[in-house]
Amino acid sequence: MSTILLAGGAGYIGSHTSVELLSSGYDVIIADNYSNSCPEAVRRVEKITGRSVKTYEVDIQDKTALEAVFRENKLDAVIHFAGLKAVGESVEKPLLYYRNNIDTTLSLLECMNEYGVKNIIFSSSATVYGEENPVPYTEEMKRGTCTNPYGWTKVMMEQILEDASKADKELSVVLLRYFNPIGAHSSGMIGEDPQGIPNNLMPYVAQVAVGRREKLTIFGNDYDTPDGTCRRDYIHVTDLAKGHVKAVDYVLKNSGVEIFNLGTGTPYSVTEIVDTFEKVNGIKIPHVYGARRAGDLPESYANADKALRVLGWKTEKTLADMCRDTWNWQKNNPNGYNTAE
Ligand code: NAD
Ligand code: UFG
Repeated sequence: MSTILLAGGAGYIGSHTSVELLSSGYDVIIADNYSNSCPEAVRRVEKITGRSVKTYEVDIQDKTALEAVFRENKLDAVIHFAGLKAVGESVEKPLLYYRNNIDTTLSLLECMNEYGVKNIIFSSSATVYGEENPVPYTEEMKRGTCTNPYGWTKVMMEQILEDASKADKELSVVLLRYFNPIGAHSSGMIGEDPQGIPNNLMPYVAQVAVGRREKLTIFGNDYDTPDGTCRRDYIHVTDLAKGHVKAVDYVLKNSGVEIFNLGTGTPYSVTEIVDTFEKVNGIKIPHVYGARRAGDLPESYANADKALRVLGWKTEKTLADMCRDTWNWQKNNPNGYNTAE
């Protein structure tokens, strides 16, 4: 069976993808510097699947250190999750974001080139559609203008990968544009564990539910949307992880560059998220309406037809599943992976 290197594989999406790849028979190797994750997540992946995962604690920017991973293993494909992802922080520390996100990509591509690894899947984002494109987004739309350095790193990395593939006809690249991943594995053993105050909606709601935060502030209720709050394409992280298994099957058999949206195609508003979380879990989420957050688009959602047509992938979980599984993870792990807190 093929061996897949997950760069940044100990993180939220990487850990869930590890479970699905291992369950599908792939061997998984994780390289992570644990800057936004911890080894405990990998131990839990092993517990869920009953399979072992080889890990390397390495900064993927550091090409010399990364070379050991390529030297010591016969890799069939790489999935590149390793990146910094906090939009607000990227505005304050742009150089950190450009350095980390671009350098990890270059180091991986250089190592792949030197060791003859010809397949890469990249964690891109719906953010590359920018401000100009109308919803629902389709893959052939031109990349747009981003409102923050995080988004620009994704645009740049997509370009770098496309250029690398043009220059090396054997290189197979899949760009996966994620919409809004939420939820957790149905076991409640792995989930999203943000450090500090959560930037994203669902982890914030979950921390209010568990009593770590007092109340949620909903950023703006005067948008031109059905209930005045922003609408997003929330996708269960397990559906997203299964999309990676299909993408691995695909990247191993093809060459050139292919782009896929990974979303449900159905938008929900912030208010609908709060209402559904309250209803399925029987918990009140105290909330207030506040000012708009800079850079937020009123609506972002996918046309997900291409992934169905080409990969045979579509989402299976409902918004109720996403809310239930988030709470199952959070209530079993009130302090995330840090049980000592
Ligand atoms: P995450 O922070 O949980 O996972 C990223 C992992 O990469 C972490 O384990 C972190 O320690 C590791 N990492 C970062 N820099 C590294 C480096 N230099 N060397 C080694 N390891 C490094 O984030 P996630 O939510 O799992 O996201 C994974 C990828 O998907 C990221 O590239 C992110 O930008 C992208 N993405 C995420 C979302 C989302 O909403 N979660 C949406 C769109 C795209
Ligand atoms: N929101 C609140 N209160 C909060 C947090 C979020 O009302 O405390 C709202 C936001 O204003 C937005 C919605 O909830 O309307 C979703 O916000 P998230 O931060 O969860 O998600 P975003 O859509 O803003 O961000 C996502 C990804 C980023 C990506 C971005 C591109 O997490 O990686 O889409 O638009 F860059």
